[in-house]
Amino acid sequence: MTGEQGILLYHDIIDCIIAALEAKDRNTADHSRRVSDMSEQVCRLMRLSQQETEKIHIAAHVHDIGKIGIADSVLMKPGKLNEHEWKIVKEHPEIGAHILSRSHGLSEVAHIVLCHHERWDGTGYPNKIGQLDIPLGARIIAVCDSIDAMMSDRAYRKALTSEQCKKEILSNSGIMYDPDIVSVVADNWESVTGAGNFIRHYHKSIIDKCAINKKLLTNGKNLI
Ligand SMILES: [Fe+2]
Ligand SMILES: [Fe+2]
Repeated sequence: MTGEQGILLYHDIIDCIIAALEAKDRNTADHSRRVSDMSEQVCRLMRLSQQETEKIHIAAHVHDIGKIGIADSVLMKPGKLNEHEWKIVKEHPEIGAHILSRSHGLSEVAHIVLCHHERWDGTGYPNKIGQLDIPLGARIIAVCDSIDAMMSDRAYRKALTSEQCKKEILSNSGIMYDPDIVSVVADNWESVTGAGNFIRHYHKSIIDKCAINKKLLTNGKNLI
């Protein structure tokens, strides 16, 4: 197998993981797709490298993969969760990181997934780390995750408007979220939230930007 074929295999395995999540919970898969598109847009606005952008995009796609390990009775419960059920849901970053840590190639992605519910002020979970101890990808995903959650209907509340959502994100700058990331997101609000609305297939997003992959893809399907 060549290096290029290895990259394709890597992307295909990620796609399988996403499909597993899709089979379990369609809503979470759609949410993850929007969060990954918004996160990718933030990476571009922050002028991160292609490699860093790709890693964060993948991490965003699988950030809630740990929900595979959460009982349907809790995950699909209509209405508000009680304290015990919340405790169970809060295990999903660790379950997700555990799943992904089985692959050496995904160790950084696993770490981002582990930290996506940490908060800038150090009061998040699971490890209560704060500020720059939180990996950059997790800090970006935290903002995009909240935006998508606020702008989606829940059984117990209606979606917030774009304006209300922006206000909420700004008011939590330096509390829940990295202030530098919030300022990039707020300054480019339409382009970030618009990226989340533009549903694309995962492979299109990553592989089209990668010339070697594009060449391999157009050369035939039996690459692996
Ligand atoms: Fe999550
Ligand atoms: Fe999420």
